[in-house]
Amino acid sequence: MFTRRKFLQTVSEAVALGAAPVLLNACAAGIATYRGTSDGKTIAIPLAEAAPLLQPNGVMVVRAANVPVPIIVRNLGSAGFIALSPICSHAGCEVRVMPNSFECPCHGSVYSLAGEVEDGPASRPLQRFPIEGTADSLIIKVKA
Ligand code: FES
Repeated sequence: MFTRRKFLQTVSEAVALGAAPVLLNACAAGIATYRGTSDGKTIAIPLAEAAPLLQPNGVMVVRAANVPVPIIVRNLGSAGFIALSPICSHAGCEVRVMPNSFECPCHGSVYSLAGEVEDGPASRPLQRFPIEGTADSLIIKVKA
């Protein structure tokens, strides 16, 4: 039987073994997530549900039930919006969203806000998805 005492002991052991920083990092990131659906080719994000993206350098994670990976969308100000895969091109770890870059926790690659490699070992940019705006939504093309 898994008692309350055993549960609390397990949690405190997990914290002592380092699980806490992972949880704290996830919380500290504080990146808003939009959960939608895809028609198989696109994901539409209503601007009314994308408040963080209305600010320059605003960022959101977009997830769709039928799209296997999340997509990071960022407002690049006068350069428009960019939609990137968070999967590092080196060996497939998920990059962290930083204020002015993306950083891979596995081997230290650093990507620019546009997803270009700034520091290896990665040699290819983050996958980029076409994105365009309409009067009331952003449309990410996830499949040609
Ligand atoms: S998987 Fe990202 S640097 Fe190796």
